[in-house]
Amino acid sequence: MESVLSVANTEDQFQLATYKKMPIAAERGEGVWIYTSDGDKYLDLYGGHAVAGTGHCHPHVVNALRQQAGELLFYSNLVYSGARARAAEKLVSIAPPALTKAFFCNSGTEANENAMRMARMATGREQIITFSGGFHGRTADSISATFLGKYRALGKPNVPGHLEADFGNIDSVRELAGENVAAIMLEPIQSMGGVRMAQPDFYRSLRALCDERGIVLIYDEVQTGVGRTGEWFFAGSAAGGGVVPDIVTLAKALGSGVPVGACLVNEAIASHIKENDLGTTFGGGMLAMAAVTATLEAIEMDGMLENVRRVEAYLRSRLREVKQVVAVHGLGFLLGIEFSDNAAAVHKRLLERKIITGTSSNPKVLRLLPPLCLTEEHVDQFVLATDVHG
Ligand SMILES: Cc1ncc(COP(=O)(O)O)c(C=O)c1O
Repeated sequence: MESVLSVANTEDQFQLATYKKMPIAAERGEGVWIYTSDGDKYLDLYGGHAVAGTGHCHPHVVNALRQQAGELLFYSNLVYSGARARAAEKLVSIAPPALTKAFFCNSGTEANENAMRMARMATGREQIITFSGGFHGRTADSISATFLGKYRALGKPNVPGHLEADFGNIDSVRELAGENVAAIMLEPIQSMGGVRMAQPDFYRSLRALCDERGIVLIYDEVQTGVGRTGEWFFAGSAAGGGVVPDIVTLAKALGSGVPVGACLVNEAIASHIKENDLGTTFGGGMLAMAAVTATLEAIEMDGMLENVRRVEAYLRSRLREVKQVVAVHGLGFLLGIEFSDNAAAVHKRLLERKIITGTSSNPKVLRLLPPLCLTEEHVDQFVLATDVHG
């Protein structure tokens, strides 16, 4: 058994201190549970930053990875691969029908960079409209598209041509949507921004505006994708007014923890992309592809989409009993619980009671991004620990 203190001391000595860490040394995971190096057990309602969609170490994913690791870890896109063919086919098969082609990369920020580049290539224009409160990643173009708190300034000098609109306000978008706008990109539910969602009409109006002015619509579904909302994607969902964008970007839960990102694009976008226009060494590697296929299969086999919808309804009903909760924002298992007071104290108390949750840029909002296999029993445990007056 290794103490948290000794692990933390070594890590702090040799790793750059870029994150404020919880006093936990994660050693093993199973479903919604994280087991620590000193024998403790935590209920994980944060999913390692929304990554553990299938839960920690889902046996179907682990077996697929073991098998693939014994066959071929990696070869680039210069060769065909059964693992890649299966992953691309599976991913496209669960996407809204208009999105017919996948491009694989390694992370969310990279997926967004490639999506913006494709939009510029397809339109011959340069500007990108994104929204206040949105987060799109930390590489140059994505951080320049991120109008949230301190992030954009960290990316200085920013890439030119990024314009900021108000989330949920179509007039603010219309005003900016001039002749040089290539794309409108949004997190359809702003996660880090405090779990903010717009009315279905907003998404419909965005689609109409893009169609009218020849602008590419990009949904950053790095968090909302791969089952988190109780649907495979926010794109095409009833909550989003049935709107299907031209490009959807994915990462996080797509590989159950193996780094992988993707862009799903429609035929119109695909027709503008030629050999060598985009590229990546690691994107589409066999290990990541095996993870994608197994992740999507596991979600299907275990009926996780239905589970998310059922358990979300239960969680919402249970939270009505908690006096300090004033609202529950979001959809499925991307939930922002708004407290009457600062949520940081709740976050701390829950951690003391061995429950991991997340905060957001709204100090009153506690964020939940649990594995899609969370059950009513886990919800009961969370509600009991949350309700100080209960
Ligand atoms: C909505 C959204 N887009 C993009 C990213 C960037 O993804 P990555 O950290 O994999 O680059 C994140 C990461 O938190 C995100 O939440």
